[in-house]
Amino acid sequence: MTVTINGSPAALPDDPRVSLLDLLREHLHLFGAKKGCNQGACGACTVLVDGERVLSCLALAVQYEGRSITTVEGLAPQGDMHPLQKAFISHDGFQCGYCTPGQICSAVGMARELRQGVPSHVTADLRAQTIPPSHDELRERMSGNVCRCGAYNGIVAAIAETFEGAPT
Ligand code: FES
Ligand code: FES
Repeated sequence: MTVTINGSPAALPDDPRVSLLDLLREHLHLFGAKKGCNQGACGACTVLVDGERVLSCLALAVQYEGRSITTVEGLAPQGDMHPLQKAFISHDGFQCGYCTPGQICSAVGMARELRQGVPSHVTADLRAQTIPPSHDELRERMSGNVCRCGAYNGIVAAIAETFEGAPT
């Protein structure tokens, strides 16, 4: 049983109780995704599964056989930073940085949701084909990613700058 991690195949663990987060961190030594609460409350462990954001602490690794996982490391192949990572730097979107990989993976998944017209609690037009990345939308959709340093203004500014007009 294998899963694809950042474009490369990886063996799934024999133990079906291993979480996706522990597979990444403890088995594959990909330390980008962070273990904050380990109970689905902080978003620090967010990764992308076939482009959709998932809390990897709540996911069993064996659920994802044959799926494609992208971690924050996979957003910066060969060390070339994703535009959102550059925007986090220019907008001071972090202090300690512990939440940042989860924020970035979550925002990339969120932009896909906007592009696909997936509504949120604050979406005015539920029939829209695509949803503009307004600050209300960004704040609502990123509310599952907690930042204990309180860098929220910089985080929203970085996401808005990166995805404004043309969510990718
Ligand atoms: Fe997964 Fe907090 S570590 S949500
Ligand atoms: Fe420290 Fe967000 S930058 S928790």
